[in-house]
Amino acid sequence: MKAKGYAVQIGSQTRNLSQKEIMQKGKGVDVLLCMLTDKIDGKVMDAMGLQLKIIANYAVGVDNIEFKAAKRRNIIVTNTPDVVTEAVAEHTVALILGIARGLVQADRFVRQGKYKGWEPELFLGTELQGKILGIVGCGRIGLEVAKKMFVAFGMQVRYYDNAPREEAEKTCGAVPVSLNELLQKSDVVSLHVPLVQATHHLIGEKELKMMKKTAYLINTSRGSVIDEKVLVRALKQKWIAGAALDVFENEPKLAAGLSKLDNALLTPHIASATKETREKMSELAAQNIIAVLSGQTPSNLVI
Ligand code: DGY
Repeated sequence: MKAKGYAVQIGSQTRNLSQKEIMQKGKGVDVLLCMLTDKIDGKVMDAMGLQLKIIANYAVGVDNIEFKAAKRRNIIVTNTPDVVTEAVAEHTVALILGIARGLVQADRFVRQGKYKGWEPELFLGTELQGKILGIVGCGRIGLEVAKKMFVAFGMQVRYYDNAPREEAEKTCGAVPVSLNELLQKSDVVSLHVPLVQATHHLIGEKELKMMKKTAYLINTSRGSVIDEKVLVRALKQKWIAGAALDVFENEPKLAAGLSKLDNALLTPHIASATKETREKMSELAAQNIIAVLSGQTPSNLVI
């Protein structure tokens, strides 16, 4: 296909491609527009060839790309930040409400014909008003979740971050705390950190045991920020009240036992999946590519 002077090769498969397929199909290209499911390491870059100028990731998270390898080969890496913020924040809010009020379980209960009449203690949930929301990573998405939960639900916000987050402090009275304090005091803990070495299994046994037994853990960042096997144990043994997860350690596989748990709400990595956001992601990725091919600095330069 030709688009405004560029020859564009579009994968004909709707499934994810294997690394081998990417290497074969990508030989000789100047640009690689890839998905978060595509593992792009030095081997793939070499197979594409020395002419490869830019890897444009169709995601804000870039943990699927080996930075060091790209840097060594002078390949530019871009992502699609900002445009995913609203959709991911809205989905996070949906997960918080969904797990706190047992929405999925309640829906199944009705569909299975188990609803035999009103009962005062049927599906007792947890109110959010006045409760503590702990935001781990208060960047763009964390901030947006904090704002929504503060304004709409009157939650008190605590955050843990490497840097002070003035906007969160000003707009939602967010208080910076240590990770331990956040885990010990929060009623809802929501994860919004990128996946890097330091955040891999940031939430493991010690951290889950610090959380309140009544607390919920929400993850719309990357699966490996949580030790998923330990989380299954935590949910089974009720160390915490529940978890709502949009991301998993080994997508699309789930840790053994996770899908059987009633106190887990699971969605298939769709936090950014709105029509509006997908369109904006495509535009942004294309703009980054055009900028690089025109010799300009792309707006969303990662390295
Ligand atoms: C991202 O952008 O990193 C999301 O996980 C998918 O859009």
